[in-house]
Amino acid sequence: MPQLFPPAANTIARVSLVAGILLPAVALVAGSAITRAPYNTKVNNPIDQPVPFSHEHHVNELGLDCRYCHTSVEQGPKAGLPPTHTCMGCHSQIWTNSPLLEPIRRSYETGEPIRWNLVNSVPDFVYFDHSIHVNKGIGCTECHGPVHEMQITYKAKPFHMAWCLQCHRKPEEFIRPRDQVMNRHYVHPQDHIDVGRKLVDQYAVKVDQLTDCSICHR
Ligand code: HEC
Ligand code: HEC
Ligand code: HEC
Ligand code: HEC
Ligand code: HEC
Repeated sequence: MPQLFPPAANTIARVSLVAGILLPAVALVAGSAITRAPYNTKVNNPIDQPVPFSHEHHVNELGLDCRYCHTSVEQGPKAGLPPTHTCMGCHSQIWTNSPLLEPIRRSYETGEPIRWNLVNSVPDFVYFDHSIHVNKGIGCTECHGPVHEMQITYKAKPFHMAWCLQCHRKPEEFIRPRDQVMNRHYVHPQDHIDVGRKLVDQYAVKVDQLTDCSICHR
């Protein structure tokens, strides 16, 4: 009668037993490392887009203001993404044959909007509003990093709760004069904590309430 199990089976059985005990522990440790890894939160990973739109080109080189395309950033919760006709304002006249712009031309003809892939987001159970931040002196670069240098847009900050709270606890470290919010080259002055404290007062920032759970979870 042929052997049912090859001699190696015993070893395999033992190895898998040991592995069975060890693996969950390893998975636990690895799991917690993975949830904190930039990959998971997608920090610093450029996201593929239907059109390879470059902020570096349109902001740094052409000098366009953020609000030219993100029109609702000062008025409401969403910054907003530009409709096709914003692009066509220029691209019906320049770079009209660029194959990269073919999806834009098609969208313009069909009226079908471009579906940009989302780079930044917070979960549904978190309330976020752009206008309140922008109007209280928190600059775009504080939360989005050097967008103006990005060839392809990526997420620059983790956007988890601890990150939001770091500023909500000490807004004086991050706040800037309101007229500097769109300034992508803004550098905090040496005495920025003192300046920050004054701005926090001046703009009546409700520092004592900013860490209440109900501010972000409504
Ligand atoms: C000419 C139009 C234009 C200008 C000007 C512009 N953007 Fe954008 N922006 C876009 C488009 C189109 C997208 C969507 C594609 C992408 O993510 O790259 C985008 C995406 C973004 C995103 C990521 C959105 C997401 O999915 O989370 C951020 C953040 C952003 N822009 C910030 C800025 C800032 C800050 C400025 C000014 C320094 C700026 N943009 C200027 C057109 C523009
Ligand atoms: C204010 C004018 C203006 C607006 C608005 C504008 N662009 Fe451009 N865009 C340009 C110019 C100028 C160039 C490139 C010229 C160069 O490379 O020197 C360019 C280049 C590009 C290129 C590279 C084309 C190639 O073949 O290399 C892409 C892609 C592009 N734009 C996408 C967009 C999209 C998408 C929008 C709308 C969200 C947009 N642009 C809005 C002026 C504009
Ligand atoms: C306090 C941090 C913070 C500041 C300041 C900030 N953003 Fe955002 N931004 C976020 C968060 C958080 C999201 C994701 C929001 C969501 O999921 O609804 C986001 C999403 C976006 C998006 C994509 C979704 C949308 O709202 O349309 C764009 C575009 C954007 N931001 C542009 C800007 C621009 C331009 C500025 C400066 C004028 C700016 N942001 C300032 C935190 C910030
Ligand atoms: C760099 C600083 C900074 C960061 C980062 C930041 N905030 Fe804020 N946040 C502020 C300031 C300043 C205010 C204005 C407070 C006021 O008006 O009293 C504010 C206000 C708010 C409000 C409005 C409170 C109200 O009175 O209605 C919400 C909601 C909020 N933040 C959510 C978030 C969330 C969610 C994140 C992270 C995704 C975040 N914030 C990240 C600085 C920041
Ligand atoms: C400044 C905004 C802000 C405040 C204040 C805040 N949270 Fe959050 N919270 C977030 C964001 C953003 C997330 C989602 C990202 C993440 O999971 O870290 C989150 C996620 C959570 C989660 C989901 C589990 C998790 O860790 O992913 C729980 C539970 C939670 N918050 C509880 C609280 C409690 C309790 C308080 C009050 C002590 C609080 N939060 C205050 C922004 C805030």
